[in-house]
Amino acid sequence: MKGVVLAGGLGTRLSPLTRVTNKHLLPVYNKPMIYYPIQTLVNAGIREILLVTGGNSAGDFLKLLGNGKEFGLRHLNYTYQEGEGGIADALRLAEYFADGEPVCVVLGDNLIERNILQAARAFREQKRGAKILLKEVKDPQRFGVPVLEGKHVVNIEEKPHNPRSPYAVTGIYFYDSAVFEIIKTLKPSGRGELEITDVNNAYIRAGQLTWDVLEGWWTDAGTIESLFSANQLVAETGANKME
Ligand code: DAU
Repeated sequence: MKGVVLAGGLGTRLSPLTRVTNKHLLPVYNKPMIYYPIQTLVNAGIREILLVTGGNSAGDFLKLLGNGKEFGLRHLNYTYQEGEGGIADALRLAEYFADGEPVCVVLGDNLIERNILQAARAFREQKRGAKILLKEVKDPQRFGVPVLEGKHVVNIEEKPHNPRSPYAVTGIYFYDSAVFEIIKTLKPSGRGELEITDVNNAYIRAGQLTWDVLEGWWTDAGTIESLFSANQLVAETGANKME
């Protein structure tokens, strides 16, 4: 399984912090934000990683990360997203890199307390389809929210006004190679983006989506409030723990 970190987009919700740099280069406690999703993949035993970035500061990722030596990697792959066409548009750029293998995708602003080893193991056994990780949150309306019928996720609603469950779909996804064919069928949403939620709903319709609940804390860091809370969580308890 290969790994993909998505770090494009404009980060406008963090303006003016993001006026002259990319959101994922901002600090979260003692490290740049981008370190955390890369570590999440490395801790899951994934060694081949592609970083998708964009905008004006794209070159800074290369200066910061090089070939990933700090993470024990021999090589890091990079690609560039023109514009900010959405998460699924950024993932589309990983087709050549994936080369028919399954991928674990982590959004560049998603941080976790623990690790995804168990989910990665379960997805390897699943062989096909997709797997998402859910986490109970106080403000589900900010996220993709699953509609559950018993143990089945029957639909995912993106930023619903009236969330149908207390869960957020976290920005950690496992996909088989069919994901790239699914992305080719997508149409831009109301916010003009190719939505990852539409990708996940396509897997639900095909009866090929499984889910787990993530253990330990999970947060995004894409708003001033969540960036602040991410700093506090990392300072207080640490992130990317192996136990
Ligand atoms: O954090 C989890 C949530 O992430 C999910 O619950 C939602 O279903 C999903 O749509 C997403 O919601 P956001 O609206 O918070 O996503 P955002 O636009 O902040 O993008 C998250 C990351 O995805 C961002 O840090 C970098 C990457 N991205 C985003 C866009 C729009 C790209 O690489 N390219 C893009 O064009």
